[in-house]
Amino acid sequence: MRTGVCYFPEHWPDERWETDVAQMAEAGLEYVRMAEFSWAVLEPERGTYEFEWLERALEYIGDHGMQAVLCTPTATPPKWLVDEHPDILQVERNGTVRDFGSRRHYCFNSATYREETERIVRALADRFADHPTVAGWQTDNEYGCHGTVRCYCDNCADAFREWLAETYESIDELNEAWGNTFWSQRYGDFDEIDPPRHTAAEHHPSRLLEYARFASDSVVDYNRLQANLLRAANEDWFVTHNFMGRFDSLDAYAVSEDLDLVSWDSYPTGFAQDRLEAGTDPTPDQLRAGDPDQVGMDHDLYRGALGRPFWVMEQQPGDVNWPPHCPQPGEGAMRLWAHHASAHGADAVCYFRWRRCLEAQEQYHAGLRKQDGTVDRGYVDAVTAGEELAAIRNGSADSATDVAGSETLAPVDASVALLHDYDNLWALSAQPHAPAFEYWNLLDAFYGACRARGVQVDVVHPTTDFEDYDLVVAPALHLVTGSLADRLADYVEGGSELLFGPRTGVKDQYNKLRPELQPGPLTGLVGARVDQHESLPPHLETTVLAVDGEVERDFRTWAEWLEPEPGQDTVTVTHEYAGDDVAAGRPAVVRNEGREGTVVYCGVWPEVTLADDLVVACLERAGIRYSERLPEGIRVGARGGYTWVTNFSGDSMTIGGVDAVDAVIGSPDLGGFDVTVFEGDIVADLEVS
Ligand code: GAL
Repeated sequence: MRTGVCYFPEHWPDERWETDVAQMAEAGLEYVRMAEFSWAVLEPERGTYEFEWLERALEYIGDHGMQAVLCTPTATPPKWLVDEHPDILQVERNGTVRDFGSRRHYCFNSATYREETERIVRALADRFADHPTVAGWQTDNEYGCHGTVRCYCDNCADAFREWLAETYESIDELNEAWGNTFWSQRYGDFDEIDPPRHTAAEHHPSRLLEYARFASDSVVDYNRLQANLLRAANEDWFVTHNFMGRFDSLDAYAVSEDLDLVSWDSYPTGFAQDRLEAGTDPTPDQLRAGDPDQVGMDHDLYRGALGRPFWVMEQQPGDVNWPPHCPQPGEGAMRLWAHHASAHGADAVCYFRWRRCLEAQEQYHAGLRKQDGTVDRGYVDAVTAGEELAAIRNGSADSATDVAGSETLAPVDASVALLHDYDNLWALSAQPHAPAFEYWNLLDAFYGACRARGVQVDVVHPTTDFEDYDLVVAPALHLVTGSLADRLADYVEGGSELLFGPRTGVKDQYNKLRPELQPGPLTGLVGARVDQHESLPPHLETTVLAVDGEVERDFRTWAEWLEPEPGQDTVTVTHEYAGDDVAAGRPAVVRNEGREGTVVYCGVWPEVTLADDLVVACLERAGIRYSERLPEGIRVGARGGYTWVTNFSGDSMTIGGVDAVDAVIGSPDLGGFDVTVFEGDIVADLEVS
């Protein structure tokens, strides 16, 4: 509910800083994030610390009534450090060293780098421990950006072996757990196990999964080192890290255990190009404003991460430099994104960056100001968003306190939990079994169905307490343990609803097929087994038939032939395969009403209408209110006694079903890339056309 900006005073002459900061304050910005790549300026040579410049910038920020978020500068070890200790550099899977000259070139498992980290973080934390303007710290910057979570150097090889020796009691246990007899992959000792480097054919999926876990754990550990140092200097500071959108290789939940605030970096028009499903082209509207569900799912994930407060630490300010193409965002898009983030629970949105940079890699990246210091399109939007969000916050009767001790709106209260975790992502990515089987896109199918009905969703880890929700959607529970199966059974026994997606309960925690048929320990709960599965190319016609209404619905990519358990009279086949080929007439979706709540198992990857049918039926049974299906690009959210209607399309829309006088921002005539905010939680009443 507040706005901020990322600022690099070190890129500009000192004489300019006071003007910059005064202009930030004038724009209503309240937080300034600094210093994430400034190690070479803070310590130009070993042991020579030059922190005065940062102190001076802080002074201006404090004088103008703003607060600062400082960053540890460890994402960019300086040249002198790399030259002294070249062994801190990352190594790629094929042995190529990631050299100096860019960023994120260090290895998380380098003991040397951990010592150096400790030294610079402690020096900074001690120096600013009593500074009244510093509200909190961001550790490093975007751990793992540019594919850097997984390193394959000798430090990592040693650390991986130790990690395995701690995870398994003996090498025999590991051989057995992974199934290493296959292709003669047995090991005689932990010391023989290397990182999964370059090989002729595909890697062993268990080894890949364990390496993914190990690499992520290495980052968790490294982050903990930093968080502990910062807290030791001042326990009132908040500690955060800026995660990335739709990011695969780092377990954000595990990192967040050591954070007070979870934040992420949102670049909607970039993600609409480089994080959309392979082979799909972004629509013209997505090129201008991004996909609201793609961005929304990340908001809901990072907000869901352990229930911590959440911010957008970097918000796209205009055109960017890194996707294939960099169109200008739609008129008002930078304002729209701030409102959208607030509706999803963000307490602050900080724009990246203040001013377009004159030098180096990011010259083609906009700021709120142009390179000559004059205002850019993003500035105008940021000022409007800041004013509007402040007005909403000040008018709210349902407020809370944010991580920096200021007033904010009460958090989002979602009735639906969508289960997501990185083990399943990594396991499915190790053996997708179809080119189009991408984990995030499977989640999209179910998430999008909820959001298109105006339903708010927490994207949570399967260890979350399900009792807080009326409906749990589990699109991709590929690995299932007995204890998770028991918890899910208890949840349904308590009268709540559960919806499973395809490929559920296939494997154990080592990424190895379970000896019993799918869905393994969930068979009792589902009341059916998977007899066969098949992955299917996109050019085939793939449809299921609703058994009661005879409607045909499309699916894609994956199909399971289900078989109700003999004697289970509580199980209904709701959809069967259409057509006249080998699958025709076989069950594709089943519903089990054998407990207080209902369990639905969907054995296919549903296209939009099937996902909508299944989700709506679950919402009905769960008693969760939902809206008419919202038009493409329109998404709604409620929080703190307000409802946001955001328009990610360039078309004007009309909002019906509500009283126009209740609009506190905008009106029922909603323009392209525009937003209307109503008083009250009225998401279920909305009709937008
Ligand atoms: C982010 C990164 C920033 C900047 C920005 C450009 O991923 O954290 O440092 O590079 O992208 O869009």
